Amino acid sequence: MFVSDCISVNENGHLTLGGYDTVSLAREFGTPLYAYDEEQIRKNARAYKKSIDENYGGNGLVLYASKAFCCKEMCRICNDEGLGLDVVSGGELYTALSAGFPAEKIYFHGNNKTAAEISEALDAGVGRIIADNITELEMLNSTAGKKGRTANILLRIKPGIDAHTHDFIRTGQIDSKFGFALETGEAMQAVKLALSYPNISLAGLHCHIGSQIFELSPFELAAKVMIEFYAEIKKETGAELDELDLGGGFGIKYLDSDEPVAYPEYMKSVAAAVKENCAALGVKVPFILIEPGRSIVGSAGLTLYTVGSVKTIPGVRTYVSVDGGMGDNPRYILYQSPYEIVCAGKANEKKDLIATIAGKCCESGDLIQENAPVQKVQPGDTLAVLSTGAYNYSMASNYNRIPRPAAVMVRDGSARLIIKRETYENLIENDI
Ligand code: LLP
Repeated sequence: MFVSDCISVNENGHLTLGGYDTVSLAREFGTPLYAYDEEQIRKNARAYKKSIDENYGGNGLVLYASKAFCCKEMCRICNDEGLGLDVVSGGELYTALSAGFPAEKIYFHGNNKTAAEISEALDAGVGRIIADNITELEMLNSTAGKKGRTANILLRIKPGIDAHTHDFIRTGQIDSKFGFALETGEAMQAVKLALSYPNISLAGLHCHIGSQIFELSPFELAAKVMIEFYAEIKKETGAELDELDLGGGFGIKYLDSDEPVAYPEYMKSVAAAVKENCAALGVKVPFILIEPGRSIVGSAGLTLYTVGSVKTIPGVRTYVSVDGGMGDNPRYILYQSPYEIVCAGKANEKKDLIATIAGKCCESGDLIQENAPVQKVQPGDTLAVLSTGAYNYSMASNYNRIPRPAAVMVRDGSARLIIKRETYENLIENDI
């Protein structure tokens, strides 16, 4: 009935998350509120881990792409589940380290790492730094040299694959700001350069073709293209690279009509592509890394709002305004991302209203959803937007100086605060 197994309806007709009544959550913690089901997050993490065990005999590591939802508690849960971490900025690295995340299981990404970030990553002793461009390679070599260290790296490759997803979240095609292109020879040049640098140890390559992808074939193709490149590298340089990071991007359900591939299926067919191509080309099967973000936290989270005004413009539309908006969820504005909307206290009732869910920002485009079916809501009702666990909190802003919401984690019938609600004081603390 709902987009995620962790969501249901209780005997009062209230929407529940991990068995917890969401109307009570809103009452106890206030709104807007991000709420997560810890069990669902752990289940997702374990499913990915199991797929590495089953398909590669455990010769691999799942890295949680922390950009999807980064906070200390999330880092602790990932560590507890035996996952590594993909971080993409000094801020994400700092968060992970401050949560006690083991540095050697942190992979540092980014297409334009600053000198300070490179230095921080080397000092922390992160597992791998994923180099994006020649300037960065040079900087890594010289900074590592000055510190008397070796930079353990992967190179980010654009495999030239055009994944069918929103333009802004496609990354594997040649016209992308990320990584080295294969077609132009740039990638091979980068490999040779990395191999020649004294303070760099090239462990392998990385690719990520995009996000919220529903098809298997682009992933299989990426694996094939990458293994072919491993074979070419072996032929041209004699180097056999040990690791292959295939990135993330696995789609999740935002609407009931969405049909993502089951993750074990995806893993199985990509592993088959990796192994077949390795066997055919005489390349050893590398240590495999995958970087799911959205699919670990996305549908394990939802946002709760309180409805303010309900404004019907006859013959035009009905606006349901909530106490949050683009500040806590900019994804509709950015990508026209669809969401399932439920009136939390009337979850069993029919959705016989078609409404536009509007935020409270001073901006006409501040919408969470347009023309969405929802139960007949009234001012004061709690409204739930489902599948907001990924790229909501992490993309939130303080536009209009609206404090960012709190986040809670639900587990075994209890709920705990994991991120405090911002205060007005927080909003001005850096003002001078
Ligand atoms: N690895 C790399 C190198 C990435 O760039 C990303 C996402 C991931 C892994 C994780 O992808 P996931 O499994 O979460 O799809 N803000 C957009 C999504 C941007 C994704 C950026 N990179 C959104 O809200 O849809």
